[in-house]
Amino acid sequence: CGIVGYIGHQQAVPILLNGLKRLEYRGYDSAGVAVYQGDSIEVIKAKGRLNVLESALAGRELRGTLGIGHTRWATHGEPSDVNSHPHTDASGEIAVVHNGIIENYIRIKQWLQEQGTNFVSDTDTEVIAHLIHHFYEDDLLSAVQRAVSYLEGSYALAVMCRREPDKLIAVRKDSPLIIGLGDGENFIASDIPAILPYTREVYFLNDKELAVLTCDGVSIKDEYGRDIKRDVYHVTWDIEAAEKGGFEHFMLKEIHEQPKALRDTMASRIAHDLSINLHDLDDIDIEKAGKLFIVACGTAYHAGVVGKYLIERMARLPVEVDIASEFRYRQPIISKGDLAIVISQSGETADTLAALRELKRQGATVIAIANVVGSTITREANKVLYTWAGPEIAVASTKAYTTQLLVITMIALYMAKRRGAMKQRNIDDIVSDIIKLPDKAQSILNGKEAVQHYAAQHFSAHSIFFIGRGLDYALAMEGSLKLKEISYIHSEAYAAGELKHGTIALIEPGTLVVALATQPELFDKMLSNIKEVKARGAVVMAVVQEGNTAIEDVADYVIYLPDTSSWLVPMLGVIPLQLFAYYTALYKGCDVDKPRNLAKSVTVE
Ligand code: G6P
Repeated sequence: CGIVGYIGHQQAVPILLNGLKRLEYRGYDSAGVAVYQGDSIEVIKAKGRLNVLESALAGRELRGTLGIGHTRWATHGEPSDVNSHPHTDASGEIAVVHNGIIENYIRIKQWLQEQGTNFVSDTDTEVIAHLIHHFYEDDLLSAVQRAVSYLEGSYALAVMCRREPDKLIAVRKDSPLIIGLGDGENFIASDIPAILPYTREVYFLNDKELAVLTCDGVSIKDEYGRDIKRDVYHVTWDIEAAEKGGFEHFMLKEIHEQPKALRDTMASRIAHDLSINLHDLDDIDIEKAGKLFIVACGTAYHAGVVGKYLIERMARLPVEVDIASEFRYRQPIISKGDLAIVISQSGETADTLAALRELKRQGATVIAIANVVGSTITREANKVLYTWAGPEIAVASTKAYTTQLLVITMIALYMAKRRGAMKQRNIDDIVSDIIKLPDKAQSILNGKEAVQHYAAQHFSAHSIFFIGRGLDYALAMEGSLKLKEISYIHSEAYAAGELKHGTIALIEPGTLVVALATQPELFDKMLSNIKEVKARGAVVMAVVQEGNTAIEDVADYVIYLPDTSSWLVPMLGVIPLQLFAYYTALYKGCDVDKPRNLAKSVTVE
C-alpha cells in the first residue's frame, strides 16, 4: 500500500493525489483521502484505481491544508469502498492510513467490541483508529504511543486528529515510511517519489520510531518517547528512478524482490516444527481424489507444468495440466470429486476464469493460486492460496512465477502427507530446504554480473534454444518465454530428448543453446544431449547445481546454482534466466517493462 500525509499552507488534496499517483505501483485496488475541513475530518474513498477517487473528489469542494491519503493493495478484507483507507473511529475524531498487517487485530477488535465499539469494515486498520480513540485524552501523541504498544505485526501509519489540527503523526514498524521536509510544510510518504515534486530533503524513520509533524517542524521519537536527532538525507535521483527503488526497470526491481516475495509467501505457512500449514485445504477430500487438473495461461501455466511433475511424484495423484484456452474446448473428462488448481497472477485472466467456471460446473473443487486479493478468480474459486508477491508491474512476470512455484510445491508436500505418499522425514528435508530458498535466491542476485556478461555477448542472436529434461524442461519453457516476450528474439524450449526428432535441424554453428541440467538422475542423459548440439556447432550455456564441475568439459559457459533439493531447483534456476532475458532486452534497446503487443492482464478470450 502507499501512504501520503501533508501539513502546511497549501491545499492538501492536490498534493495527496499527486503523491498517491506516484505510489500507485504499491497497490491500486482502492484509494482514499481524509482532509481537515472546517472543524471536522472529511473522508472520501473509493474502490478502484485512483481515477475513481479523482472523479469522486471532482464533485466535492474539499478544502484544507492538513490531510492523509492512501492507495491500497488488499490484505485483510476484499477491495471495497468501506474497506478502503482512511479509516476513522466511530465519532470521526481520529483518521488513520496504514500499510502492513496487524497480526493480533482480531483479539484487539473483540476487546474493543466488548467495550461497545462498532466496526464498519473487515480491515485490520479500522482497529487502529478505534484503539487510538480509546486511549485519547486530549493528547494525540500519547494516544498513538499507547495504541501502537498493543499492535503486533507490521505497520506504517499516518494519523490525524480532529481536535489537534496542528499536527500529523507518523509511526512505523517493518513497513517503510519517510518524512519530507519543506518550508512551512511537511510530508509523510511510504516512498520518496510521492514527495519528490515538493522536496528533496527527507528523514528516514527507523523501526518503532514515531514522528510528530507540524507546519514548522518535525520531531522524531523512539518507542519510549525520547527525542532522536536524525540527519537529513538529500535525494539526488529523479522521480522515475525513485519509483523503481533505484532500479532501471520494474522488471529488474521485481526480479530483486524475489527473496522477499518467497519469504512472505512461506511466512505463515511453514511452522517452526517444519509442518506445512495449508488449513484452508483441510476439508477437501484429498485422500480420495481421483484426478487433479491444473489450468492457467502464460507464465502461470509454466508454474502449472512444474506443479504436475511435483504433485504426481510427491503425492502420487494423476495430474492433467492445460493451457486455459485449450482446456475449455477440448471437452475434458471431469468427475465429481476431482480437484483443480487454477493459477493466475492477476486473478482476472478471461480464459482461466472460464476454465474455473467449467471445472466448478462439472463438480470439481477448485483451488486458486493468485496474487491479487479479491480478484474475480479468488472470489469464484472454492479455496484461495495467495502468493504474497506484492504488486507486479512489469508485463513479464517474475516474482509471481517464483511464488506460484512455492505455493504449488507446498501443496504437493501437503497432499503427499495427507495421501501418505511420502515419508515424513523426506518431507521435512524438503521443507528445511524451502526455508533456505530466499537466501539462496539472494546469492544468485548478488552474482548477476556473470549473466549480464553472457547477455552482452549474445543479444544480437537470431534464435536461442532452451533444453532440459523433467523439471528442467518445465523451467526451459519459462526461460524461453521470458526471453522472447521482452527481447523479441525467436526462442524455443525443447525437451532435450526430443531435440533429435526435429528441432536439432535448426542448430547451426554459433547458435546459442541454454542447457538446464540440474536434475541429478537425468544429468548423464543431458550431457549426451549437450554433446549432440555441440557437435552441430552450438554454443552452450549450462545451468547446473553447485559442485557439478563435470559440465565444464562440454559447456562453453556455466552458471552454478546454490545447492538445494532437486525438487526446488526451478525457484532458483529461473532467476538467471530472468536476468538473461532482462539484460538481453536491455542491450537490444527494447521497452523492457512494456513489451510490444503484450498486456499485463488479458481479460478477453
Ligand atoms: C498475460 C501476461 C503474462 C501472464 C498471463 C497470465 O499474457 O502477459 O505475463 O503470464 O497473462 O496472467 P495471469 O494474471 O492469469 O497470471
